[in-house]
Amino acid sequence: MHGTFWFMNTYSEYSPSGDFLKDRVILVTGAGQGLGRLAALAYAQHGAVVILHGRKVAKLEKVYDEIEALGKESAVIYPLDLEKVTEEDCSVLASSIMHQLGRLDGILHNAAFLYGPSPLMSQTVDQWQALLKINLIAPFAITKACLPLLKAAPDASVIMTTSTHGHNPTAYWGGFAVAKAGLEAFVKIQADEWNELPGLRINGLIPGIVNTPQRAKTHPGEVKRTLPQPEDLMSVYLFLMGPDSKAITGEIIACQAAP
Ligand SMILES: NC(=O)c1ccc[n+]([C@@H]2O[C@H](COP(=O)([O-])OP(=O)(O)OC[C@H]3O[C@@H](n4cnc5c(N)ncnc54)[C@H](OP(=O)(O)O)[C@@H]3O)[C@@H](O)[C@H]2O)c1
Repeated sequence: MHGTFWFMNTYSEYSPSGDFLKDRVILVTGAGQGLGRLAALAYAQHGAVVILHGRKVAKLEKVYDEIEALGKESAVIYPLDLEKVTEEDCSVLASSIMHQLGRLDGILHNAAFLYGPSPLMSQTVDQWQALLKINLIAPFAITKACLPLLKAAPDASVIMTTSTHGHNPTAYWGGFAVAKAGLEAFVKIQADEWNELPGLRINGLIPGIVNTPQRAKTHPGEVKRTLPQPEDLMSVYLFLMGPDSKAITGEIIACQAAP
């Protein structure tokens, strides 16, 4: 079954066993900070080899060092600017994963970019091109290039990080909301088309309000320590990436109840 929207209120109770992601290779986009960093650390902590994608190498190196400090499987750094990414770049990414790591069991599409909120008609075509490229077209292109690897995996999970602004678009979120709404459509279309492939699933994940650099950019006046922290959501990220969510596909899952 797929195509519904549900709130995963049991996320805080999901507690997988130590190395439940052992032997899996997981690509996390935007792994240098915020939710992507925490998810990469959580996957590594549970035994996965994590491909740390991002734009700024220095940030990825810090996360790499944090994973090493956990004493877990080493990670791999893969810098790529999603605003400029081409189909060819994505093919190179997929073949690098194949040659260096031999498999791919999951992708957390987490990287995102947005400008400050503004009225739709004051946004520019250049801004829309960047918003749609980074937030919607790049996840499509990476998933497409990695499909042979995902199909070869026994239990592959693709997670698209969406947003309440995509699920319930409102004023001033413009091209960012349109891109995130597009990701929800992507999830539903792709899950339908992968119906015949029981080893392959795709879901949308809505984090809700979380204290990250992105949140600080869009809501500068908030008191950060009163917000939910990325750590608080990691059980959902683990659940959706690991074997316990094998039967779930085409869902849009909210980590938190709407405020
Ligand atoms: N925080 C929230 O309250 C919230 C709420 C709803 C949804 N979300 C979603 O959750 C996800 C993570 O959010 P976050 O708050 O953790 O975001 P964040 O702190 O802004 O991190 C975004 C990541 O995306 C990467 N990125 C941005 N532009 C890129 C580009 N052109 N090429 C490659 N990588 C790029 C950044 O890499 P560099 O640092 O290397 O540039 C960064 O690591 C996003 O999809 C966001 O929309 C967050």
